[in-house]
Amino acid sequence: MNINAVVDYAVDAGVAVITVDSPPVNALSAPVRAGIYRGVETAAADAAVGAIVLICAGRTFFAGADITEFGKPPVSPLLQDLQALIENAPKPVVAAIHGTALGGGLELALVAHYRIAVPAASCGLPEVDIGLIPGAGGSQRLPRVVGVEAALEMITSARHVPAAQAHAMGLLDVLAQGPDLRAEAVAFARRVVAEGRALPRVRELDAKLEAARAAPGLFAQFRAGHARRFRGFLAPEYAIRAVEAAVNLPFDAGIAEEKRLFRELLDGSQSAAQRHAFFAERRAAKVPGIPADAPTRTIARVGVIGAGTMGGGIAMNFLSAGIPVVLVETSREALDRGIGVMRGNYESSAKRGTSGAADVARNMALLTGSLALGDLADCDLVIEAVFEQMAIKQDVFAHLDRVAKPGAILASNTSYLDIDAIAACTSRPADVLGMHFFSPANIMRLLEIVRGRATAVDVIATAMKLARTIGKVGVVVGNCHGFVGNRMLAARNREADRLVLEGALPWDVDRVLYDFGFPMGPFRMRDLAGLDIGWDAAKSSSSTVRELLCEMGRRGQKTGAGYYDHDAARNAAPSAVTERLILDFAARQGVARRAIADEEILERCLYPMVNEGAKILDEGIAARASDIDTVWLCGYGWPRYRGGPMFWAEFEGLPGILGRLRALQQVHGEEFRPAPLLERLVTQGRGFRDFAGLDAG
Ligand code: NAI
Repeated sequence: MNINAVVDYAVDAGVAVITVDSPPVNALSAPVRAGIYRGVETAAADAAVGAIVLICAGRTFFAGADITEFGKPPVSPLLQDLQALIENAPKPVVAAIHGTALGGGLELALVAHYRIAVPAASCGLPEVDIGLIPGAGGSQRLPRVVGVEAALEMITSARHVPAAQAHAMGLLDVLAQGPDLRAEAVAFARRVVAEGRALPRVRELDAKLEAARAAPGLFAQFRAGHARRFRGFLAPEYAIRAVEAAVNLPFDAGIAEEKRLFRELLDGSQSAAQRHAFFAERRAAKVPGIPADAPTRTIARVGVIGAGTMGGGIAMNFLSAGIPVVLVETSREALDRGIGVMRGNYESSAKRGTSGAADVARNMALLTGSLALGDLADCDLVIEAVFEQMAIKQDVFAHLDRVAKPGAILASNTSYLDIDAIAACTSRPADVLGMHFFSPANIMRLLEIVRGRATAVDVIATAMKLARTIGKVGVVVGNCHGFVGNRMLAARNREADRLVLEGALPWDVDRVLYDFGFPMGPFRMRDLAGLDIGWDAAKSSSSTVRELLCEMGRRGQKTGAGYYDHDAARNAAPSAVTERLILDFAARQGVARRAIADEEILERCLYPMVNEGAKILDEGIAARASDIDTVWLCGYGWPRYRGGPMFWAEFEGLPGILGRLRALQQVHGEEFRPAPLLERLVTQGRGFRDFAGLDAG
């Protein structure tokens, strides 16, 4: 019997089965809630029904609240009303879980009296990912079931817990054995009735909370242990407070506190930013001019040229995904060194427990090292990661053109160089594109996919698909110097250097950007990457602080000194030598240094980025502002709770930024001239998000 378009009701051997089928993920929308509500009422009133099974059709159990309802007037029945109905039902309710029980989905399962799941299922409360906490009792019920520490870990990490582990934690009562979850859930429900078992209500459990009350240092310890990971984020701290409320307050008061904390987050800027980030990433998958069903090429074997910092990391992505890689170098020594680093990385992740020891052998067995480009003849995709010099890259591509099989995709990992100029050295520019990874390439989630003038649609579609296969977020960008990310980074770096000349010190600039939420500032970043990247001793002319440092042998962390002094434990300390060098250099340049306020550092570093972002958008290098945000969130450590540079700029207010850029232009010159798009949007009272009309998603 259909209760409504998305909920079905049937009685099977004395057990009412309420089946929800609301694709794609059975989000707990108003019709879903209403249908279940009716189903539970019907079952409760039917004397022939002894128990109730709540199950979903399709891909998954309820994967959470319907976040499109956020910020809109509530539609009844509310989730909490439905939960009260189920929890207080006079007959046992069994939640039968497959796929993922996430957020509101798990919170609904937590009011059932019993939970059964297939082994492939997982459970989680991932709200902190979008700057929220569980808002439907999750923070109050979960600790009562799994204990306070496990609940804190699960909620603040947003982790999906596999069924076997959830079972061991007590979150699931039964793991289904066979392929028919419905039948097993019904059989289990009948057993519960036959044995006259009680109706356990999670809200009434207290033993695990009592254990936490006996360990008063628990919360302080948890906060201290995670301080680094939670830095800047409100949601994890609010989650901890909500769990504290579960421990210290009666259940209903705890629920009220959870609701209050949830509301505060929902109304705040961090959650808005994190929700934007969440949708921005998904939107990036929709590429203008590339239909979702565009044909793709099969990539069964990948070639990587260059086994340096980037090449090795790039190769690891494919090996980890089970795709064989041929890695080509110019010398045996460079090849061995590169492969050694890869093996070392795999071994240390096995040691940390993030992968198994068997994975090291499995992954390395998929790798073939070579000293001949000819060995790339049967690769479906070749990614070049050699030195950042146009002549070398063109030479490699001309050679590659002669050896690669027809239809092979030829990609460059170049940071700045012109993809069209590289493609022009081949007879097949339609097969050429940029695949720009970020360091460390096996870890950073961003992949800038650079579309050349001639790049074919199926080549872009294949790269996007491949990005997903290797766990990256692909963002398609146009061809220009530095593409999206590095072009904006260059604007920030230019100002960082000028600030240091005018009066700030590198650690001042770094501190301000760190406090803003970046994992590190530009000077620490340079020290980490190596100051000598792109530096040529033969051509060095002592004309910048960076050149002077390189000439002194201060090449960054790897040499123990750069802008900072680095000790063996990789701690960076402000350097008196660097400070002296800067003061002398500024004096030689005739710069009268002055005190520079933190506020000026921040606006001079960030507003030029926003301005450059506006130009990038106007030129069509990025299809939409949210793509620029995704680049910065996934590739450059822009703090997620600030949503990305374009989102942040709108939040700050475009008219204000425009005004500051004009003022800075007066003092510091043309680099601050506001982008025409920024001027236009402010005049029209619009924002970046309204621009381009490409933002259909
Ligand atoms: P690297 O200097 O660490 O490695 C380059 C490797 O290429 C060396 O091992 C060299 O022996 C090898 N090589 C040079 N010519 C070759 C040839 N003709 N055939 C085969 N191998 C050759 O440089 P890195 O940092 O890995 O950079 C590589 C590329 O990736 C550059 O285009 C760079 O701009 C880009 N990139 C670098 C990033 C970084 O953070 N280091 C980030 C993103 C892109």
